[in-house]
Amino acid sequence: MGKRDWCYDAEYRTYVDDLLEKPQVQELKNYKHHHYTNRLDHSIAVSYYSYLLAKKMHANARAVARAGLLHDMYYYDNETAKEVLNGENHYKVHPQIAAINAAQITDLSDLEKDIIHSHMFGATMTVPHYKESYIVTLMDKYCSIKDVSSPFWQKTKDKTKSFVQNHETTLKCKEKFDKIKKEKMKPLAKNVEGKE
Ligand SMILES: [Fe+2]
Ligand SMILES: [Fe+2]
Repeated sequence: MGKRDWCYDAEYRTYVDDLLEKPQVQELKNYKHHHYTNRLDHSIAVSYYSYLLAKKMHANARAVARAGLLHDMYYYDNETAKEVLNGENHYKVHPQIAAINAAQITDLSDLEKDIIHSHMFGATMTVPHYKESYIVTLMDKYCSIKDVSSPFWQKTKDKTKSFVQNHETTLKCKEKFDKIKKEKMKPLAKNVEGKE
């Protein structure tokens, strides 16, 4: 899936456009998330992947798209969580904060509340009650791993490419040098032959 595929998915857009227009949602792009991305891009990825999977599983695609988009709606940097939360566990608390913030910009169904509250299942013991909640918690983990690993693989790919290119340039230079050497040695070889 391309990074911007969601933009061209008309059905998906009907589910989330009203939320994406809210400044409270747009503000998420000001927060770094998983080192390499921002919280808005991460939330859109979780929302869109969850929506695609929900459609395949005949689950509620609208609910996962909306709750997926709002699942990390909190406004502090993860690095400062300890101070901001007075030592409370960020993993446990941020889904509750996100649900409160989300409820201020839209009506949340019980299903959507459950999706947001239980998205940290595994790191917390808040067990999902619906298959839609399992979809979002799974996609959250998938996207988090992707957020962290993609830049690493890109860097490795770039380094390998530049190594191969440098190696190819070295080989070409060597070939050229060998050719020149051979040509310059020819008359010398002739002279040597002539003398003999
Ligand atoms: Fe989260
Ligand atoms: Fe997340």
